[in-house]
Amino acid sequence: MQLRAFLFLLFCHIRIGLALHEHVKRGAETNATLYAYGTNSSAWPIAYGLNDGLLYVAENPENSDANLTPLTWDLASITGECWIANATFVNGTRAGCMYIMPEDEYAVGVLPMTRVAYLNGTVSGFALFASQLVYNNNTLLEAQFWAKSTEYSGVYGLTWTIDDSAPSGDFPVVVKASEDS
Ligand SMILES: *[C@@H]1O[C@H](CO)[C@@H](O)[C@H](O)[C@H]1NC(C)=O
Ligand SMILES: *[C@@H]1O[C@H](CO)[C@@H](O)[C@H](O)[C@H]1NC(C)=O
Ligand SMILES: *[C@@H]1O[C@H](CO)[C@@H](O)[C@H](O)[C@H]1NC(C)=O
Ligand SMILES: *[C@@H]1O[C@H](CO)[C@@H](O)[C@H](O)[C@H]1NC(C)=O
Ligand SMILES: *[C@@H]1O[C@H](CO)[C@@H](O)[C@H](O)[C@H]1NC(C)=O
Ligand SMILES: *[C@@H]1O[C@H](CO)[C@@H](O)[C@H](O)[C@H]1NC(C)=O
Repeated sequence: MQLRAFLFLLFCHIRIGLALHEHVKRGAETNATLYAYGTNSSAWPIAYGLNDGLLYVAENPENSDANLTPLTWDLASITGECWIANATFVNGTRAGCMYIMPEDEYAVGVLPMTRVAYLNGTVSGFALFASQLVYNNNTLLEAQFWAKSTEYSGVYGLTWTIDDSAPSGDFPVVVKASEDS
């Protein structure tokens, strides 16, 4: 199946990447924009939903119908020690950190730092492998982002898929950071 093949390739990419780890010394990024690359390979920015604090893959990150606003990110490299992905609003106000929300069908969202202690440390999972955003789940690197359609056209909810479960979205996406935008 096409999607499985895609995930497999993605998985291999990460494993091969790990082998090449020493050669891929790319640093952390600050003030970066995150883009989701879908199966049709168009890159859409990842925006913040003001209604629910969740992240959305959006053709227009300022889509006011869906109440979206753009974010910039400070991201660590996987070689770094700190795996907290911090988001900032356009006005410079801190938005919070990226977090997978199991209680919300594994939607990926942003929560303020004040909830980190309550979250038991699971927030500190995201970092960059080269320019790709990956999740460190107890030393296993994972990249299982999916885009899930919403009631708005051109807006997809960013979700996470747990190993071997049914995909919780419409199509897989690779999330990459770019400092140049
Ligand atoms: C982040 O990038 C934006 C757009 O390129 C720029 O306007 C802003 O000054 C930058 N902020 C920081 C803290 O570098
Ligand atoms: C991907 O292609 C599908 C079908 O053509 C389209 O509906 C969807 O909006 C596209 N998604 C992105 C992120 O470009
Ligand atoms: C995110 O914020 C926390 C708390 O301020 C900080 O410890 C961490 O280094 C930041 N992460 C990045 C990648 O800058
Ligand atoms: C900055 O923008 C965010 C999102 O729109 C908003 O929640 C926040 O109150 C704003 N902060 C300031 C100081 O205007
Ligand atoms: C949460 O933290 C407590 C105390 O450190 C620990 O015993 C427990 O295993 C943690 N739970 C998870 C799911 O990590
Ligand atoms: C992390 O791994 C544990 C144990 O393998 C699993 O139960 C959990 O669902 C994983 N979490 C994510 C976000 O993948």
